[in-house]
Amino acid sequence: MDKRLFRQVYDLLLEKLKNKEWEEHEKLPSVRILAEELGVNRLTVLRAYQLLKETGRIYVKEKSGYYVLPEKQREGHVRTKEEAPLHESESESRFGARRSAQLHSFAQALVDPALLPNRYFSEYAKKVFDLYPKVLGTYSSVQGDEELRSVLCRLFARTHQLHLNMEDLMITTGAQQAIDLTARAFVQSGEVVLIERPTYHAAITIFEGCGARLVPVDIHPDGYDMDHLEALLRQYQPKLFYMNPTFHNPTGYTVPIRQRKLLAELAERYQCLIVEDDSFRDIYFGEPPPPPVASYDTEGWVIYIRSFSKYAAPGLRVAAVCAQPPRMNLLLQYKYQMDNGAPLLNQKVFLLYLASERLTGHLEKLRIALGIRKTVMEEELRTAGWTWESPQGGLSLWVRLPAEGGSAEEVLRRCAEHGVAFSPGNAHDPIRELRNYIRLSYSFVNEAGIREGMRRLISCSGVPERA
Ligand SMILES: Cc1ncc(COP(=O)(O)O)c(C=O)c1O
Repeated sequence: MDKRLFRQVYDLLLEKLKNKEWEEHEKLPSVRILAEELGVNRLTVLRAYQLLKETGRIYVKEKSGYYVLPEKQREGHVRTKEEAPLHESESESRFGARRSAQLHSFAQALVDPALLPNRYFSEYAKKVFDLYPKVLGTYSSVQGDEELRSVLCRLFARTHQLHLNMEDLMITTGAQQAIDLTARAFVQSGEVVLIERPTYHAAITIFEGCGARLVPVDIHPDGYDMDHLEALLRQYQPKLFYMNPTFHNPTGYTVPIRQRKLLAELAERYQCLIVEDDSFRDIYFGEPPPPPVASYDTEGWVIYIRSFSKYAAPGLRVAAVCAQPPRMNLLLQYKYQMDNGAPLLNQKVFLLYLASERLTGHLEKLRIALGIRKTVMEEELRTAGWTWESPQGGLSLWVRLPAEGGSAEEVLRRCAEHGVAFSPGNAHDPIRELRNYIRLSYSFVNEAGIREGMRRLISCSGVPERA
């Protein structure tokens, strides 16, 4: 996308809005028509509209289009810390004292709440009491609400080629609880657990917490070194292998389909459970990802974990874990001990959202918005000549720091003084040695904030920008 063109379109629209060329609540020209009129790409117009929306100039009506936000409401528009109109951030000096205290957080692999379907969830939260008046007067079953489990089984069969009985699926309080349950249920202190390197930082803590001996398995843009993996399986006879093979956190890499089939075979051959954490499956920018490893499992050696936090409602804490009978029984036992079942209210609210037709439309828009943010981040980092493998999905870039600037921790300390945060590579490394990598999430901060934050970061890295 041409950056200058985007600026011109954005400035033009902003000027028109300031000059009141459109009335309050008037509908703006559709993305298609405006793109044709201006002779630019639709994405350029969409991005300009999105930025105007995020900065409180316009609003969007589902399935209708963009409208002018009245001045009065604009005054009430609460800017998030990361929000700042493009012109503001671009016209200021790199470390302008006025803004240096603001936090540009690229540390969380979380989606900006402005991009989530909050309005629908609040609608369903009200509706749920009409439909289920006793929802707060009873417990959920330990395994989770039947209606929700049935909808999820159908969804997984349709979209993931994963065919399950309802008894094979349990609702958990977030995917993090599901990982914790697998650790409690299947790993004894001193047993070996294979874990990707780098990996989701909380998984390291969870498996270390149950006394496991962690053996790292490097993940590359094209998956794992399967010969090496087999050698590890033979040598250590590990209890399980925790993996996040689809738009992996933190790298965004995806394990190819041929390795997925082989992984299911190896798990069975070496009697090593695979715990497949599939938290980012729906966030892709090109082709949808290959089916989960679990879809190739015939003997119950793959435990499948599915979070919905990354694109729907992290606050609901609804996730699913799938396993076949003897293992599911053990997971249920630990779930019972832990909290006796996930909150029913949250499950029913999520059920109403899943059962509506809104999810597909929301995901389509979310992918566009996150794709734009990723492009913006990559544009900025490219100017500094930094290196990373551009991911086809997920929420983050795994970036190698230039050698001259010192370790990720040192850069992070300097960045903190300038209001920029990221996740240092070490935090994702089971053996704590990845000091020259950082994870930058492009999902939480808007485009203007990303540009400003990347400029600050590059300056703090101690490496001069290329001309
Ligand atoms: C790989 C991975 N698994 C699980 C989680 C946690 O998901 P939940 O919010 O459902 O607990 C995260 C959150 O960042 C994650 O990155």
